[in-house]
Amino acid sequence: MAHDHHHGHHAQHGHAAHGHPDHAGHGDHEELADILDLDAEVLHEHLTEVMAWVHEHAAPATTVLDLGAGTGAGTLALARRFPAARITAVDVSPQMLEHLRHKAAAVGVQERIKTIEADLDTTPSSTLPAADLVWAANSLHHLADPVATLRGIRGAIRPGGHLVALEMEAFPRFLPGDALEERCHAAVAEARAVDMPHLGADWAPLLRAAGFTVEATRRFEIDLRPPLPEATVRYAQTTLRRLRQGLQDRLSPADLTALEALAEEVPHRRDLVVQARRTAWAARP
Ligand SMILES: C[S@@+](CC[C@H](N)C(=O)[O-])C[C@H]1O[C@@H](n2cnc3c(N)ncnc32)[C@H](O)[C@@H]1O
Repeated sequence: MAHDHHHGHHAQHGHAAHGHPDHAGHGDHEELADILDLDAEVLHEHLTEVMAWVHEHAAPATTVLDLGAGTGAGTLALARRFPAARITAVDVSPQMLEHLRHKAAAVGVQERIKTIEADLDTTPSSTLPAADLVWAANSLHHLADPVATLRGIRGAIRPGGHLVALEMEAFPRFLPGDALEERCHAAVAEARAVDMPHLGADWAPLLRAAGFTVEATRRFEIDLRPPLPEATVRYAQTTLRRLRQGLQDRLSPADLTALEALAEEVPHRRDLVVQARRTAWAARP
């Protein structure tokens, strides 16, 4: 069931977001929220570039649905790029949505933004508002059966409307050539192959399987070089510490210690970079 915060209805979810069953504690929400906010700050230019592409392929959009909105990086970028649009942000996490509402209020767009607490694995799409743009950024890979959810979402898209999905290929890298960081990424890839098999997938065939026609695809290369703003240091540190947390059982004790030391060292590294690849697909139902 969808739960509309404007009607004051809150559901209780006994589990964390998909793929993080081992990170279900309260602190984890805050940490993930921090990373999402830092991601939005550090990759601001990238997001602006993505939104220009979305505008090119999916305008006009007056009603927008943001699936797995998190702390609202995309929601707020959409609000900026589509100044007349009303946006509904959907997420399974009430904490994320609360954070999103605060951020929307801080930039004065709260009147145009509504939040719905819903689990997209089980919520019938008929309970979601119809939209002419559905946006899903780094959320589809969290779903248990993304093709089934996407098939349902098709029905929520108005005639002439679009779905735009943005997905990362892997977690960002900060110290290219660092052997330890390489080993961490290999271990993450191994873990994700089991608990998030769709991370880094080519979404075009999955979108087609759900009945969509893919109209455009664009790969975005992120390569930020020094000097980098201070937020980048926090972004790298938080990401490396979260990696360490998630890899407790997959790295040797020596690597776990070295990874903590690497996170500590980040503020003093002159060679810190941010390298990532994200792909966007624009599709019509
Ligand atoms: C990596 S974050 C991306 C957030 C945001 N779209 C962004 O780009 O910053 C993934 C989000 O999907 C949400 N999510 C995961 N599984 C979900 C589900 N089954 N239903 C609804 N939201 C879900 C998580 O709570 C989290 O906020």
